[in-house]
Amino acid sequence: MSDASTPVHVDVHLPADWADEAMSTDIRRAFTGHPKTLPPMWLYDDRGSDLFDAITRLPEYYPTEAERSILGRRAGEIAASTGADTVIELGSGTSDKTRTLLDAFAETGQLRDIVIMDVSEQTLRDAGAMLGERYEHADVHAVVGDFTRHLRHLPKGGTRLIAFLGGTIGNFHVEERRAFLGAIADSLEAGDSLLLGVDLVKRVSRIVDAYHDATGVTEAFIRNVVTVLNREMDADLDADAFDYIPFWDAKEERMDLRLRARMPMSARIERLDLDVEFGEGEELRVEVSTKFRPDRLSEELTDVGFEGLEWFTDHAEDFGLVLARKA
Ligand code: SAH
Ligand code: TRP
Repeated sequence: MSDASTPVHVDVHLPADWADEAMSTDIRRAFTGHPKTLPPMWLYDDRGSDLFDAITRLPEYYPTEAERSILGRRAGEIAASTGADTVIELGSGTSDKTRTLLDAFAETGQLRDIVIMDVSEQTLRDAGAMLGERYEHADVHAVVGDFTRHLRHLPKGGTRLIAFLGGTIGNFHVEERRAFLGAIADSLEAGDSLLLGVDLVKRVSRIVDAYHDATGVTEAFIRNVVTVLNREMDADLDADAFDYIPFWDAKEERMDLRLRARMPMSARIERLDLDVEFGEGEELRVEVSTKFRPDRLSEELTDVGFEGLEWFTDHAEDFGLVLARKA
C-alpha cells in the first residue's frame, strides 16, 4: 500500500495461549458457578469477530447505524469540546464507525495519537493498518489486551479521549460495570474525556429482534462460544445439544442471551482437569446486553468522578452517546 502510511505499533498483552492462568480462572469460575456464566470476551475469536461484524450489518441490528448517525452529526463538537490530541478506543473491533469520529479530529489538525485495544488480535491488526493509512499525521498504537485487566498498558500522555462505543458497556453486569467505569476514571487525568456509546431502553420487540435476527447470525455468534471453549480448553461440549434462548429481562432492563441444555449431559474440560454436568434445561449464561436510561447512567458516571456530562441521541432516540470529563 502507500508508502505514506503510518507504521502501526502493536503491543500484545494477552498470552498466545488462551489457557493462561487468568483466563483459565475465568472459565473455571464460569462452570463451577450457579448459574453457569461465561465471560463475554470468549465470544470474540477470529470467527466470533467476523460474525459480530456481520451482526452490525443486519437490518434488525439498529445500534450500529444509530451510533454512526450520532457520530456523524456530533463528531466536530466532540473534537472541539474535548480538545483531545489522543483518541483511545477500547473494544475497537473493526474501528469502522470510529473513522467518523477520527475524521473530525484529523480535520482540526489536533489528532496526534490513535490507540486501539481489543482482545481479537487479527481484527485489531487489520483495523490498525486501516487507521494507519487513513490518518497519516497520527501515530497508531494497537494494544492486544483485555480492557478489564490491561488498562495500565495504554500509552500515557497527551489530552486523552477514551471512546467506548457500540453499547459494549451494556455487556457488563452491574457490579463489574461500576468497577470498570471506576478503572477508566482512574486511568485518566483531570480534563481528559470519556465518550460512551449506550443502547437506550425502548420498545421491547425492537430490542429482542436485534438479538434474534431472521437469518440466525446472532445465534451462530452465541453458539460459537462453545467452539472456542472446546478448542482453547480442550473440552468436549456438544454445541448442538443446546438451544439458543434470547430473552428480555424486564426487571434488569437487559437482553439475556443463554444456551439451554436440551438433555442432561456431562462434559470434560481437559485443560482445567474439570468435569461439568448440565441438568436437562440447565442454562449457560453467555451474555447480557443492558439498555440504559440516561439519568441513571449519568449518576453512575458522576459517582466515579466524571463531570460536565453531555448527551447526544439519534432522531429515533434509539441510542445515546454520553461525553464526560474527568474531574
Ligand atoms: N466497538 C465496535 C465493536 C463492539 S463489539 C463497535 O462499536 O461496533 C465488542 C468488541 O470488544 C469486540 O471487538 C471484542 O473483541 C472486544 N472485547 C470484548 N471483550 C473485551 C475485553 N475484555 N477486552 C478487550 N476487548 C474486548
Ligand atoms: N455490544 C453489543 C451489544 O450488546 C454486542 C452484541 C451485539 C451482542 N449482538 C450481540 C452480544 C448478540 C451478544 C449477542 O449489542
